Amino acid sequence: MKRVKIIGTGSYVPEKVLTNFDIEKIVDTSDEWIRTRTGMSERHIASDRDKASDLAIKAANRALKDSGIAPDEIDLILVATATPDMFFPSTACFVQSSIGAGRSASFDISAACSGYIYALSVAENYIKSDKYNTVLLIASEVFSKYIDWGDRNTCVLFGDGAAATILRGFKGSRMDGIISTHIYSDGRYANLLYLRGGGSSCPPTHESINHKLHFLKMKGNSLFKIAIKNMSEVAREALSSNGYKISDVDILIPHQANKRIIDAVAENLKIPQEKIFINIEKYGNTSAATIPLALDEALKEGRIKKGDLILMVAFGGGLTWGSALIRW
Ligand code: COA
Repeated sequence: MKRVKIIGTGSYVPEKVLTNFDIEKIVDTSDEWIRTRTGMSERHIASDRDKASDLAIKAANRALKDSGIAPDEIDLILVATATPDMFFPSTACFVQSSIGAGRSASFDISAACSGYIYALSVAENYIKSDKYNTVLLIASEVFSKYIDWGDRNTCVLFGDGAAATILRGFKGSRMDGIISTHIYSDGRYANLLYLRGGGSSCPPTHESINHKLHFLKMKGNSLFKIAIKNMSEVAREALSSNGYKISDVDILIPHQANKRIIDAVAENLKIPQEKIFINIEKYGNTSAATIPLALDEALKEGRIKKGDLILMVAFGGGLTWGSALIRW
């Protein structure tokens, strides 16, 4: 039976670090408020010149090196991003030309913070259907460019970063590699997190700029509650649909939007803290990149060993959410 496994990972965050103390100088907030309400201490911020593709290319090259494959072995490039270089061409096309993956098809996936799990599901199904065998999946976000740095409700939360994963088909049993992915959406809640300016509902005008419509807008409180509920439910479904219990999970890699959301999900699932990988204090919410960034870091730190059961759960604008269950 054709299965899908991850054969390489890599990540990249911009050099510039913005600490909570730096943000204290920009808006009326405090390191104490940010740390206790979100679990974040610092985040990385792209330079004015850096585009989503620049971060993506660096992460992709690291994943290529890690996997040991050549760029022309890649059949498909997927870039999960809500902050692409342009409306079109896709950011994936810019990555393709830079890394020299001449044979690949390339497109972007838009599912906000759930983008990595959505793209993983797309890659999994392309490979299992035998259409493609090797997929480069990169999540890359530069939300710092779309943040209102005068709005303390949002500017403390986001950071920039990219992380890449290379997936390949192999012959194995049903419980090898990616065991399952589940993805969901509920567009009735689109108004909780969105970026309207520049889209066809709001083409750029002087007025749209004056009304700050080119910045991300968020209703944090409502999102907070739905995120806990949906991430808990989707985690339970990932396990029950494959005959596993929470005690079978070796490592939970949740989307890193707020440490309090992760703690509440952990409490609902009754999973001990030591089985959860959390790096939100260093990066903030890097949107689609949080899960692959955490995966890459967990691997480099030796937190994941062969045979481990990895549960990933994501949540984001759309609303979108999803899970992936992987036997390493
Ligand atoms: N510094 C200081 N005070 C702040 C602040 C900041 N950076 N941001 C908000 N506040 C204030 C608010 O103005 C409010 O003050 P008020 O009571 O005088 O009006 C107070 O803190 C409480 O605000 P509230 O929104 O209830 O806080 P919260 O505990 O819900 O935390 C979030 C706010 C945004 C951290 C939290 O709701 C959250 O993380 N939501 C989910 C966000 C998310 O996941 N987004 C991405 C989805 S992928």
